Amino acid sequence: MADNRDHWASRIGFILAAAGSAVGLGNLWKFPYITWHNNGGAFVLVYLVCVLIIGLPIMMAEILIGRRTQKSPVPAFEELGNRGWGFVGLFGVLTGFVILGYYSVIAGWSILSFWQCINWSISGYVAPPEGAFGEFLADAPSQILLSLTFLVATAFIVWRGVSKGIEKAAKFLMPVLFAILAYLVIRVLFFPGIGQTFEFLFRPNFSELPTTGVLEALGHAFFTLSLGMGVMITYGSYMRKSESIVRSAGTVVFLDTIIALLACVIMYTIIFSVPGMEDSISASAIGMLFMTLPRLFYTELSGGVLIGPLFYILVAFAALTSTISLLEVIVSFFIDKLKMKRHSATVLSTCIVIFCSIYSALSLGAVGFLSEFEIFGDKPGVLSTLDHLAANWMLPLGGLFTTIFVGWFVSRKLALEQLRMVDKTGRPTFYFNLWRFFIRFIAPAAIIAVIIAVILGKDFS
Ligand code: PFF
Repeated sequence: MADNRDHWASRIGFILAAAGSAVGLGNLWKFPYITWHNNGGAFVLVYLVCVLIIGLPIMMAEILIGRRTQKSPVPAFEELGNRGWGFVGLFGVLTGFVILGYYSVIAGWSILSFWQCINWSISGYVAPPEGAFGEFLADAPSQILLSLTFLVATAFIVWRGVSKGIEKAAKFLMPVLFAILAYLVIRVLFFPGIGQTFEFLFRPNFSELPTTGVLEALGHAFFTLSLGMGVMITYGSYMRKSESIVRSAGTVVFLDTIIALLACVIMYTIIFSVPGMEDSISASAIGMLFMTLPRLFYTELSGGVLIGPLFYILVAFAALTSTISLLEVIVSFFIDKLKMKRHSATVLSTCIVIFCSIYSALSLGAVGFLSEFEIFGDKPGVLSTLDHLAANWMLPLGGLFTTIFVGWFVSRKLALEQLRMVDKTGRPTFYFNLWRFFIRFIAPAAIIAVIIAVILGKDFS
């Protein structure tokens, strides 16, 4: 065990960093969009069940691997399993490159929206001309510059290390994020659309749930909780033995879920409060967060001058704590496996990611062949292809290997030792047995169902 390994300086350090990884564009951009398309209520209920019976057990399993070995995913799998299992960790590193390669581009848009809102707040709102967003997407220098800015900020924090960089950043960014979110929720509580929002979100009507919605909810649970690529193994490896895995995992899952729901409350209430808006929401997820909302802030809401910029700081901060975790998985691999120093590992991995992200940035209209590049039908462009690849294939596969590994190859004794779910007499509690049952049977079966559904043509991106 590496004695000089950096650790979280406090219990809240792990929770904030892990919650920071989980809370991101998945909560603010993707969840509101897929919930809208799956007609709310019943979908939300199914998603919550997936998070509870699959997401939470896998999160505990990932943290357990990291905390026990105090190593990053590749050596961690090798230590608890054998050299062959190391490939699961390696697969996670590869997934990190894939996700960062497009996530940083979308994250970059939050900087632009923030900037645009600041301008409107200062100089007054000017309606963007028709097609402005499309032009922005096709503008190569803007796309590259914004994603680069985002990646450099990410690298700066990762470069500083676990307790001085990631933990410090999370301790600042996450409370600000919670405060902005709370402020926005309180504001929209007084909007006329709030009743309709609650009805939409919390009144399940199973006849309105598309059959594919069940599988979509499960796929999203992986993405939003940052599971299936070793983030929680890596963050768990910086956790001290004295901390409780169960409590930490529970808190992270709770925070991620509540923030996804609150993001829906904020966005839907604004949309429902504007007559006719509901019908004109475009089918595009990106449209809702970056095109529809900024306009509504300034044309329809009192106080939009404040809400607008605040909202996009929220998006940027949420995305930043997620990109940090993605980069850390790669950097920790270079440090542990290739014996590199943190600084050079950060520089090297950031350069590779920048290289990947340029392809995504140019695939939104700037460069013809990159924008038309297609592996998966109906997903033209490098950015969409990477998103599709990660969400539909890589994360569920990584998650599947992880549950099989922990459920069938890690001993019950070792798991119990880490999770410490014992009663006063030292016997495993009912909840430990339940966790093991889910990890061995329910989670793998559900993931296999998703993968089969993907093979049969369902898209989860
Ligand atoms: N969980 C992040 C979000 O919801 O935006 C995205 C993400 C981060 C996915 C880290 C996977 C990951 F490993």
